[in-house]
Amino acid sequence: MERVGLSALGCVDPERAHGLALKALAAGLGSRPNGGQSIGGSRLAARLGPLDLANPVGIAAGFDKDAEAVRGILAAGPGFLEVGAVTPRPQVGNPRPRLFRLREDGAAINRFGFNNAGMEAMARRLEHLRAAGLPAPVGINLGANKDSEDRSADYVQLIARLGGFADFLTVNVSSPNTEKLRDLQGAAALNALLARSAEAVAALPSPPPLLLKVAPDLDEPGLDAVAEAALANGIAGIIATNTTLARDGLRSGAASEKGGLSGRPLMARSTEVLRGLAERVEGRLTLIGVGGIASGADAYAKIRAGASAVQLYTALAYRGMGLIAEILADLDALLERDGFASVTEAVGADLRWGAETVTASR
Ligand code: FNR
Repeated sequence: MERVGLSALGCVDPERAHGLALKALAAGLGSRPNGGQSIGGSRLAARLGPLDLANPVGIAAGFDKDAEAVRGILAAGPGFLEVGAVTPRPQVGNPRPRLFRLREDGAAINRFGFNNAGMEAMARRLEHLRAAGLPAPVGINLGANKDSEDRSADYVQLIARLGGFADFLTVNVSSPNTEKLRDLQGAAALNALLARSAEAVAALPSPPPLLLKVAPDLDEPGLDAVAEAALANGIAGIIATNTTLARDGLRSGAASEKGGLSGRPLMARSTEVLRGLAERVEGRLTLIGVGGIASGADAYAKIRAGASAVQLYTALAYRGMGLIAEILADLDALLERDGFASVTEAVGADLRWGAETVTASR
C-alpha cells in the first residue's frame, strides 16, 4: 500500500509529493501495526546527552518544518524527531521549483531557503502537542530570517520563545540556501553566536541541550574552529552534517540545480566530517550523524565513527517510513553480530583512540 502510494507520488512535483506524504502521516497513515511508540529493544536503547532514546534513528530537520505531522511521524517508530527549521518571522522561501529528485543517484537537491510558518505558529503547535504528551524526544532546528539585520539575535529570540517546548535545540548555521548563513561557521562569528545562544538557553527554567549543525563542506581548519567553539561555549553536541554544495560523480539530469545536495552521495563525506569531529572532541560532546543513511549498515557506520544517534531524510522520501523499522532491524543484527550489548557500546568503535576511551569518559 505504502509502495503503491510512493510510486504514484514519484510522478508528481517532489515538493507537492512531500506535502501529501506529510498530510497522510498527520492522518495516521504511516503508523506501524500496534504503532505509536518508538521501536525499541535492549540493544537499540541509546543516549543523546541527557535524553534516553528507545532507538538511535531519528528524523532530520526539514522533513516536518512546521511540526504538522509530529505524532504521525513518531508512530512510524523513530527514536526522535527534529522539527524546523523555524525562523522568528514566517517566511515564504525561494521561488518554486526548489526541490529536485536525483533518482539515479538516490539523492535530492533543495533550495527551499527556510520556508516556514514562523516561531509563533511553532510555539502554538508544540504547546498543544506537549500538553497531550509525546512518545519520543522532539527537538527544534533554528534558523535566521533571510532579511534579518542581526542574525545572532534571531537565534536568541527563538531560544527564548521555543526553548520550553524543545527536548533539544539546534543552532543551524549550515543551510546553503540562506545567503551568508554559513559565514556564521567561521571562528569569530561562531564563538559570538554560540556564547549568546548558550546564555539564552541557560536563562530558560529548564534548559534543553543545545546542539550545533554543521556543513559537510568544512575543511580541516574549519573543523578545528567548530570543535573549539563548541567546546569553549559549553555546547552539548554537534550534528554532522547538513547538505553539501559539492556535485561530484552525479548522473541525474537535475545535478546542476543550485542548492544543497542530500542522500547517498553525501554518505562518505558527512561520515568523514563526523569522524573528524569525533577525533577532535574525544567524547566531550555528543555527536549526531546525518547524511546519506539508507540502511542499517549506513547507520552503524556513523555510530562506529562516533555518533551517539543518527538522522535521515532523503532515503525516506524514496523508500517510505517503513524504512525506519528496516534500518533498526538491520542495525540490531549488526550490533549482535559484533558482540555489542547496546548502541552506546558501539559509539566510536572505529576511532583511532578506541571505544573504551569514549565509554570511560562518558
Ligand atoms: C533539509 N535539511 C535541513 N537541515 C536543517 O538543518 N534545517 C532545514 O530546514 C533543512 N531542510 C531540508 C529540506 C530538505 C528538502 C532536505 C532534503 C534537507 C538537511 C537534512 O536535515 C539533512 O541534514 C540532510 O538532508 C542530509 O541527510 P539525508 O537527507 O542525506 O538523510
